Formats: sequence, structure tokens, C-alpha cells
Amino acid sequence: MKSVNVYIPGTVSNVGSGFDVMGFAMGGVGEKMRVSLIDGNEIRLVDESGYNLPMVAASNTGAVALQSFRKALNITQGFEIVFETKIKPGSGLGSSASSAVGAVFGANELMGSPFTRKELIYFAMDGEEVASGSRHADNVAPAMLGSFVLIRSLNPFDVVQIPAPESLFCTVVHPQIEVKTSEARSLLPKQIPLKDAIQQWGNTAALIAGLYQSDFGLIGRSMTDLVAVPVRCRFIPNYELAVERAMAAGAIGFSISGSGPSMFAFSDSLETAQKVADAVAEVFTAQGIERQSYVGRIDPTGVKLQ
Ligand code: HSE
Repeated sequence: MKSVNVYIPGTVSNVGSGFDVMGFAMGGVGEKMRVSLIDGNEIRLVDESGYNLPMVAASNTGAVALQSFRKALNITQGFEIVFETKIKPGSGLGSSASSAVGAVFGANELMGSPFTRKELIYFAMDGEEVASGSRHADNVAPAMLGSFVLIRSLNPFDVVQIPAPESLFCTVVHPQIEVKTSEARSLLPKQIPLKDAIQQWGNTAALIAGLYQSDFGLIGRSMTDLVAVPVRCRFIPNYELAVERAMAAGAIGFSISGSGPSMFAFSDSLETAQKVADAVAEVFTAQGIERQSYVGRIDPTGVKLQ
């Protein structure tokens, strides 16, 4: 059986002010899968992750993405996907995107690389849509390309990779409360006042400039989001206190990772990133809420063969 082993990094989407248009790949947190060519036309799913993943092809993000890859190539080649380790589903680190990205990246390698990484994002988005109920690329694109990615447009498809400052570290804290992406999206305002829109695109543009210039002050003050965070922070008990504690511990900036409930912070050293993790974790421990923390650099590469 011809197989490839694939590693896919976790991702943080939105990055504060870049709602639905920005995300980055996180170093040190990822998952592994094995993709194989098999006889017949089945997409066979094997879950070794221990997370009870959806094993019906129509609701598994990897299988849906792979199906759209096959359709584009007009092939019925059978594949097996073995989910060896998974980023915890619902952790806010793009677990559903990772499965979709890994499946199409692995299949593309096995078929002799008919598509570029950027082209593969399109198929991965079909998988992501199954999990989140909407079509967005701010997790799948950074998982595929690495570093920060800006999604300028979905149609026509136009994504831009943005360099990450070398000494930028990230903390992610995941409190064990459930927030469904589809619900977190349905509560968002359909319209925003012009003055908020002006502030928002000022922030998003400045965030990009801050990343290019490694200007940590600019990055931090540009992360403020006026679209999703004001609504979604209500789902996270004591969110404001978590912000306060993270900033007091030395964070550059703080926001919600994707639709939550995970939160992330940037710091300028590993030591500070760890202090921020401890300070934010304590806010949830004190409320009797279990949490997990992750600390790492930005992943520069995205999905890769192992
Ligand atoms: N940009 C999306 C959202 C990411 O915030 O709804 C969801 O994972």
C-alpha cells in the first residue's frame, strides 16, 4: 500500500482584528495522519486519535475535502485516512481544518502533486465548511502554507502569506467550555456602524504592517476587534479579567482564537509567553473550569510530510 505520513500544525484564526481574513499556524501543536492509496473507490476512515471523530464520510472534514479533491481530478481512486493523533476538537486550534488540510495534502503527494498548496486550500475549505457551517479559509490557509496568512478574497481566490517576526511567541489557553462555531457565528451583527468599520480596517492593515516591521507595539494595539470579540467574549466567563491578567504578565496583545472558547496572546519571549499562560490559566482554575495551555513560536512551514 502506497502511503504518506503527514504532520499538520494547529492554527489560530482571526488574530483579533482580522475576522475571517487572517490566521496563523502555531508551532509545537499539531496532529498526524497517514494517507494511503487503496484498491476500489472508497474513502476509508480509521480513527486512532481517541477523540471519537465523525467516521461517516459526509461529516468528516478530511473525507469531504478529499472528495472535492477527487472530483476536481475526475478520479475515483480509493484512499484510506488514518487519524493517528488529533488536536483536541473544539480547542480553538483549528482541529477540523487540520484534518481537511492533511487529507488533501497527503492525497496530492500520492497522486504526483497535480495541485499547488494554494489550490489545495480550496478543497480543504469544503471540508471546513462541514464542521463550521460556513466557508472560510482563515484556519485552512495557514495550516496549508504556514506563518500568517491574509485571505484577501475567496472568489476569486486570493491569499497572501505574511512573514512572522522571529521572536514572536504565542500562548493559547483553552478553557473546557463548549462554544459551537456555527452558533458563535449566528450571533454576529449583520451590519456594523461605519465608525467601527473604519477602526477595524485601520487595525487590520496596521496588524499586517506590524508583522512586516516586527513592531510588537503596533501588533499589540492593532489586535482590537470590534466585530466578533464584543459578542463572543460573553461566552467566556471572566474574559475581561483574562485580558487584564495576560497584559499584566507582559503580553503584547490578547484576543479570542477563532470563535473561541480558546484565547491567545502574543509575547516577545518564551518566558513571558509561559507567564501569560499561567496567569490566564489561573483565571479559569479559580472558577473551577479546567483548561489546557499551549506555548510556541509561529510555525513557518505549514503541513508537511514526516
Ligand atoms: N473566522 C472564523 C470565525 C473561524 O471566527 O467564526 C472559526 O473557526
